[in-house]
Amino acid sequence: MNNQLLFKMLEGQNIDNKYYLKKLLGSGGFGGVYLADEVVKDRLIRTVAIKLIITDNPDKQLDELIFSTTLEHPNLINCYTCGECELNNIEFLYLLMEKADYSLEDELKKGKLSEEKVKQLVLDIANGLDYLHSQQPVIVHRDLKPGNILRVGDKWKISDFGLVRSLKNTATQTTTIMGSMGYAPSEAYEGTISTAWDIWSLGILIIEILTGKLPFETNDSEHIRKLVINDKITIPSLEYPFNKIVRECLIKDYQNRISAREIIKMLIKDQEKLININPEYQFSKYIPLINLNISILSFLILIGLSIYNYRGNNLDKTPKNLIKNGSFEEGVEINKDTKFNGLNTKSQGITNWEIKTDDIDYKENFWQNSDGNRSLDLNGGKAGAISQTFPTKIGDRYLVQFDMAGNPDNQEIPIRKIIVSTGEQQGHFVFDIRGGKTRENMQWQTFKWEFIAEDSMTTLTFSGSSGNTSAYGATLDNVRVFHLK
Ligand SMILES: Nc1ncnc2c1ncn2[C@@H]1O[C@H](COP(=O)(O)OP(=O)(O)O)[C@@H](O)[C@H]1O
Ligand SMILES: [Mg+2]
Repeated sequence: MNNQLLFKMLEGQNIDNKYYLKKLLGSGGFGGVYLADEVVKDRLIRTVAIKLIITDNPDKQLDELIFSTTLEHPNLINCYTCGECELNNIEFLYLLMEKADYSLEDELKKGKLSEEKVKQLVLDIANGLDYLHSQQPVIVHRDLKPGNILRVGDKWKISDFGLVRSLKNTATQTTTIMGSMGYAPSEAYEGTISTAWDIWSLGILIIEILTGKLPFETNDSEHIRKLVINDKITIPSLEYPFNKIVRECLIKDYQNRISAREIIKMLIKDQEKLININPEYQFSKYIPLINLNISILSFLILIGLSIYNYRGNNLDKTPKNLIKNGSFEEGVEINKDTKFNGLNTKSQGITNWEIKTDDIDYKENFWQNSDGNRSLDLNGGKAGAISQTFPTKIGDRYLVQFDMAGNPDNQEIPIRKIIVSTGEQQGHFVFDIRGGKTRENMQWQTFKWEFIAEDSMTTLTFSGSSGNTSAYGATLDNVRVFHLK
């Protein structure tokens, strides 16, 4: 049976009585994408997109999917969670993501885009790529094409970035997996992967968007391979600045290609209106403007504040944090010499929190905290867990925010994990301690996770690096929970 038929047959099925596959949106090399309803106790929570993935290496692929759910950028499709499931006796991995309105492939079928729209699109994609390319380890997409560029609201977003292997340590790596024909650079045929792969694909994509076709007079993949390898691609004449950008993207030697960040710079250089650009560039270009406006701004803020106060104290504008002692500042006295206490399930060590599994370390001024003086290592002697219970409204959504880093003292197990859970609902988060992280420079990251309340009281649990039985785990600080709806 071919995949298209197989995926069509799975319409109407559900994953764990929670995600109902309503309609197959399409299928590609790795799997099929469905429109799906997320349901809790017969209530529709939201409509999402689910990708079912067939894989022969589920463990490795799952790691990549988990990693993709930790990435967050306005120009990347938001991936909520992932997991394994069995449908019609076939094992799949699944990825739950935000539903897009349409793809660039759909948009191109309707005709050419205006130059203004192309600028915005290239800027959006370059911003997304810049984010992927600055991850540790570096992420190279390798399958950039119109089907993987999706429109959500007023933004273009990159999808399928969790389906290809991330780059470890070195700048390049070899592979046998190829991206879609037509968008792959010449070094890809030799198995070389670097961020410049995606830049080449973007160059081809810009030509396709502006001219309505790929820069090859043939559909034959062998012919295309020869053209690319022999540097025989004819670049059509394009408007400035695209002519310049495309030429710099389609340089055969990958080491000489332009970077995503340089593309962003080129695009905003001659643009008066700045929309949706990395703050760093916005700032440098507008410093005089910002200075000039600062006094006006403070004046407006003052007026705003007085209006706010005037309207009374019961005006609750700031969302309420439902977690108590989320930064772990209140608790038992901590040993001044070792600067930490090991806590187990029998200890009443941290106010408002319960130690769920043995054991964790409660640290004071041991390393740079993300907030206050205290934080946790979720691996004490081994992976432990802590939890807090608070009132919730059944069926409503809640946003959990927390700051995560890793105990930098042992580099042997570099990937530290936290599982955040409320019963069956789980979020997996990873933190890589490599790249110059130390006790003084922990490089804390803020992560977000959503859950839907299934009870009038919810217990939120943070579990340490399972599978990592060492005393060096993920670190946690500054936990917050907000009621969304
Ligand atoms: N999050 C999403 N929301 C809406 N449509 C999507 C989403 N992800 C993928 N699609 C659409 O589903 C179809 C299949 O996607 P996919 O399996 O990734 O194949 P490919 O990337 O090869 O086109 C494509 O038409 C794509 O545009
Ligand atoms: Mg895709």
